[in-house]
Amino acid sequence: MIHALKKYDVLREIVDRCNTVVIERIQENQLREANIALESFNNGGKRLRPILLVLSAKTPDGGGLHDIDDALIQLAGAVELVHLATLFHDDVIDQVDSRRAKLSARLKYGNYASVLSGDFALAEALDLVQKSGVSGAMPEFIRTLRTLVRGESLETTHKFDYALNDAQYYEIISEKSASLFALSCKVGALASRTEYIDALGHFGWNLGMAFQMIDDLDDMLDNPQQSYDCDLRNGYIALPMIRVLGTLKDGHRDRLVRIIQSGDFGPENERYIVGLCMEFGAFTQTHQTIDRHLERAAEALTRFAASPAKDLLVGVVGDLRAYANQQVENFAGFARRVAG
Ligand code: FPP
Ligand code: MG
Repeated sequence: MIHALKKYDVLREIVDRCNTVVIERIQENQLREANIALESFNNGGKRLRPILLVLSAKTPDGGGLHDIDDALIQLAGAVELVHLATLFHDDVIDQVDSRRAKLSARLKYGNYASVLSGDFALAEALDLVQKSGVSGAMPEFIRTLRTLVRGESLETTHKFDYALNDAQYYEIISEKSASLFALSCKVGALASRTEYIDALGHFGWNLGMAFQMIDDLDDMLDNPQQSYDCDLRNGYIALPMIRVLGTLKDGHRDRLVRIIQSGDFGPENERYIVGLCMEFGAFTQTHQTIDRHLERAAEALTRFAASPAKDLLVGVVGDLRAYANQQVENFAGFARRVAG
C-alpha cells in the first residue's frame, strides 16, 4: 500500500465533507454489512479518488477550492464507496489477511460478510451517483464497473501464467485499477461541464497506471518494501517478473518457476528474485514505464492555467514520482546488502 501522498491541509474540509456524506449514507442502514462497511471506511485510506474528482472539477475553470457543490461531494463519496466495494471483494479473491494495517474484513467476519459488505457499498455508491443528479455520471459509473470486473477477471485468469506479456499486464491494470482513476477525473470534469472531460480522463488513467505499477512493486515480495502482501505468492506476475521470466533460460527459469509455484518466499528466495530483477534491469525498466505514465499525466495538465486545484494535481504526480524513486533505491539497497 502506497504511503506517498502528502496530507494537504487545504483538502481536509473536502475530505471531511466526503467522509460525512458516506458515513450518513451507510448509517441509514441497520444491516450488519453496513456496520462492517463503516468500520472499514473508518480504517483509513487516502481518499485519493475523491480528491482527484474534486480537483479535476476545479482545475479547468482555474477556480479555488471553496464553494464545492454538494453534488460534487456526493460523486466523490460514490467513487470512494466503489473503491471500498472492490477492496471487500478483492480481499476475498486474494485471500489477504490484512487491509490498511488492520485485519481484513474477510478474516474478521468471513468471506460471505466481506462479499456482502462490498455489495452494500456498491449499492450505496450508485445511490449517491443518482442523488447527485449530474447528467451523464451514471453511464460512466456503469461502464467503469464493467471494466473493473473484466480487469479482475483477467487477472484471475492469468494467475501463475509464466508466459504473461507486457500487453496483457497493462490491460489488467488498466481495467482493474486505472479505469477507476480515469472515472474519478472524468466525472469531476463532467460535473463542472467543462470541455476537458477526455483530457482529465487521460490524466487520471495515466496516474492510475503509474499508481498500480507502484503498488505492484510494493506488493511483489514481502521485502524490501515491507509490504503486507506478497503478490507473487498469489501467482500475480508483475512487470519486473515478466521481464525476468522472458529473459531467463532453461534451468534458471525452471528454478524461478519452482520458487513461485512452491510459495516459498523466505529471505533466501527473495534475495534470489531481487538479484535477478537487478541483474536484468527489470526494476529500472519498470520505473521508466512508471515515469512515462507520470510524464503523460503531467503533460495533460499543461493546458490549464495555474490554480490551487491544478497545483495540487501536479503535487500528486510529484508525490508518486518521489515514492517510485524511493522504491528503486530500496530494491538497490536490498541487493547491495545481500551482495555485501
Ligand atoms: C486491488 O488491487 C483491487 C482492485 C484495484 C480492483 C478489484 C476489482 C474487483 C474485485 C472487481 C470489481 C468489483 C466491484 C465491486 C465492482 P490489488 O490486489 O493489486 O491491490 P491491494 O494491494 O490493494 O490488494
Ligand atoms: Mg487483487
